Amino acid sequence: MSFPKGFLWGGATAANQFEGGWNEDGKGDSVCDHMTGGSVNTHRYFTNTIQEGTYYPSHEGIDFYHRYKEDIALFAEMGFRVFRMSVNWTRIFPGGDEVTPNQKGLDFYKSVFEECKKYGIEPLVTISHYELPYHLMDKYDGWLNRKCIDFYLHYCNTLFEEYKDLVKYWLTFNEINCLTMSIGDILSGGFKCEDGPAQVLGLPDTQEQLAKRYQALHHQFIASAKAVKLGHEINPEFKIGCMVAGGCIYPYTCNPEDVLLAQKDMRMNYFCGDVQVRGEYPHFTERMFEEFGITIKMEAEDSDILKSGKVDFYSLSYYMSTCSTADEEALKTSGNVVMGVKNPYLKSSDWGWQIDPKGLRYLLNDLYGRYQIPIMVVENGLGAIDKLEADGTIHDDYRIDYLREHIKQMDEAIRDGVDLIGFTPWGCIDLVSASTGEMKKRYGFIYVDKDNEGNGTLNRLRKDSFYWYKKVIESNGNNL
Ligand code: BG6
Repeated sequence: MSFPKGFLWGGATAANQFEGGWNEDGKGDSVCDHMTGGSVNTHRYFTNTIQEGTYYPSHEGIDFYHRYKEDIALFAEMGFRVFRMSVNWTRIFPGGDEVTPNQKGLDFYKSVFEECKKYGIEPLVTISHYELPYHLMDKYDGWLNRKCIDFYLHYCNTLFEEYKDLVKYWLTFNEINCLTMSIGDILSGGFKCEDGPAQVLGLPDTQEQLAKRYQALHHQFIASAKAVKLGHEINPEFKIGCMVAGGCIYPYTCNPEDVLLAQKDMRMNYFCGDVQVRGEYPHFTERMFEEFGITIKMEAEDSDILKSGKVDFYSLSYYMSTCSTADEEALKTSGNVVMGVKNPYLKSSDWGWQIDPKGLRYLLNDLYGRYQIPIMVVENGLGAIDKLEADGTIHDDYRIDYLREHIKQMDEAIRDGVDLIGFTPWGCIDLVSASTGEMKKRYGFIYVDKDNEGNGTLNRLRKDSFYWYKKVIESNGNNL
């Protein structure tokens, strides 16, 4: 295997999906705290007021807030060199627009980072992972309002100053490209909305909705660029990256119509990376906005801001691939953000996500060829139903198979010449699913005893994949 010395092996999480302690020690409520539990067949609901007797999975998560020492010790046992987590914005600024941060919130993350450092684990911190303060949604209409840039910058400044000697790796926004899709209307954009089913609350792609999304996205691009510049001023050693939901899209057939459509769909994949890595909107933007019938309001200084805040590395989530076709009858597939047409050569997970390890090699080569900066795969994994045996073991060979095949393809990509610097599989400890709110959809190496309704001891148990991943890290990817 070709994994370089010092390759960052680890795992990934997000505060709203595992931290819990949603209203403790001065924490405010984020948009995610307003999302009820759901399932593969039942929508999660978004409610503007927190309703008594309704189950909101983020409120307890898996209780990392109180068990972080135990959890980090387990990550260390596997040999993690990096741990991806996010800071809950509302733990630092409960409403998002305060001037003074919540000291207890700052103390919590300091202890978490110190605990990581104790084991030689490098924290990789996502600054915003679907955790916009609800107050910013309610009062300002979320990222649609340019004021959000200043609130975010103040939050970043606080984090950078406070943790400048503890954290080196930062990501400005999780899956920033989600904001181009209806799925991002609540979680990424924080647009004001009525109570209703969250998966469909994101409104259809009307001209008005597209204008809102791309305006909000522009504000996030400016916020991200300013954060990168600020971070480098505070500590020139910081490595600050973008994070894009990685879509690998193939033409369904060699019909030029399909090929052109796949290229167009891939552009949606490149769009955010192009702005954040190259510091300017890509060549296809003008026509794209023209076809959408939208105009984005930009300030005179914006193009200079974008240029002055290019990211240091590119990071992506990768779960699956899809196909594009002009044939409207073709069978559709599901996925986290990338929907498309079913590929007859691929198998799918229980949630219908198409498993495609080779797609990862293809995508990594494609992205590296485009950007030529270091890349990190910060999410990847198999959401599956695990069976807890009577003796407390969990035999998740399907998860091992999935990860093994993806790691093999990362190795191929490195041999192809891609500068891949790290791998943090998603949900290294079982956590709440973002799309369905379930616990049943598990990704972890560590099993958490909790069910979809929130019952369970919250005890942590090592799965077979725990021991396997430990060997993978120990051997720097040689023992798969
Ligand atoms: C990514 C998100 O899209 O996919 C994570 O960044 C999410 O927050 C992950 O959990 C897996 O999706 P899901 O819906 O299976 O939790």
